[in-house]
Formats: sequence, C-alpha cells, structure tokens
Amino acid sequence: MSDVVNITIDGKECKAEKGMTILQVALREGIDIPTLCYHKDLEPYGGCRLCTVEIESRGRKNYVVSCLYPVEEGLVVKTRSPEVEKIRRIIVELLLARAPGSPELIKLKEEYGAKEEKFGKEPIFCILCGLCVRYCSEVKKKYAISFVQSGVKREISFIPEIALKECDKCKECFPLCPTSYAQALYLLTQALSGGPST
Ligand code: SF4
Ligand code: FES
Repeated sequence: MSDVVNITIDGKECKAEKGMTILQVALREGIDIPTLCYHKDLEPYGGCRLCTVEIESRGRKNYVVSCLYPVEEGLVVKTRSPEVEKIRRIIVELLLARAPGSPELIKLKEEYGAKEEKFGKEPIFCILCGLCVRYCSEVKKKYAISFVQSGVKREISFIPEIALKECDKCKECFPLCPTSYAQALYLLTQALSGGPST
C-alpha cells in the first residue's frame, strides 16, 4: 500500500506522506494556518485550537485541530472558511481575556476582528499553551518549569531548585512564549528565591 496520500488544501492539490498532520502539509506548501501552541521540535499538543480548519472527508464536513489531525486520502481542507474564521475569532477573544497585552494576540485580534471585552477580564497573562513547559522537558530535558493544579486553577510554575541552576544560561523558552509571561514569571521566581544559584 502506498505511503503517499493526495489531499486538497484551499483548492491546491498536495501530496503528503501518511502520518503527517494537516498543519505539517500546509506549512510545507506555504499555506498559512495560525498557531499558538505548535512548535516543529515538540510533540503536537492541541492546546490552543487556533489551528482549527474545516475538512470534508467521505462526504462529511467537520472542524478539526490541524496540528493533530492526520492526513488521509481524498481529504479536502479549507483553512479560511467563514465558520473557521468565526471559531478562530472566538478563540482569540477567550485568549485575550486571559492575556490582554499579548502582542501576538493583539495581531490576531485585528486579523480576525475579535472583541477584547467580550468574555470579561480575569487576566492571568498565560494562555497555557505549554510551549515553555514542553520545550524545557522535551528539548532541553531540564524540567525546570511545569503545569501545576488542574481545571480553572491550572497554571505554570518554575521549579526553583532547578530553574535557579539552569535557566539563567538557557532562557530559550522566553522567545517562544506568546505572552512574555514565562520571562516575567522567571524573574519573579528568581527575585523571590534571592537570585540565581551558582
Ligand atoms: S508562560 Fe507563555 S509559553 Fe508558557 S504556557 Fe504560558 S503562554 Fe505558554
Ligand atoms: S497550534 Fe494546533 S491547537 Fe495550538
């Protein structure tokens, strides 16, 4: 059986290898799908759902998270249908309520016509995309930052004993963070712990 599948993205016929996700094919083809929790070196996470696209497969329409959804023969993908735009607008509004000052979210707000005040404001300045946590564990293997608690109380936290030894010479998660919260939280952790340990 062939390992190549034929799919269509926004009318463009694309060949893809089995096992690839829609997002991977789109990126390879230069088709833009917005993402907030995707990183090419990390396991797909599916946390932000901003990469949602419309698919049609075996005559059925559906909305799927493109960074997780594997390609299949004959798949037809629309990355910009009116429904997709609406889903993304709502996601951006929800995320803006968490992290109102994020430049990345402000850009998305303009692009999708999102309204900042729609879901009220309880800013926690972190959108829980997990890029910092996953990069630190999967790429750096340091485990200096992790998720703590669950449900609405879920947040991220540096592990001071590790972070104070490792983070000062790394800081590679800071530019990945869509809200700059990772850096702010590290500085706070450092200040509360009396500075980096040597
Ligand atoms: S601190 Fe930044 S990178 Fe880490 S989970 Fe929150 S938004 Fe994502
Ligand atoms: S990029 Fe796909 S869910 Fe975040």
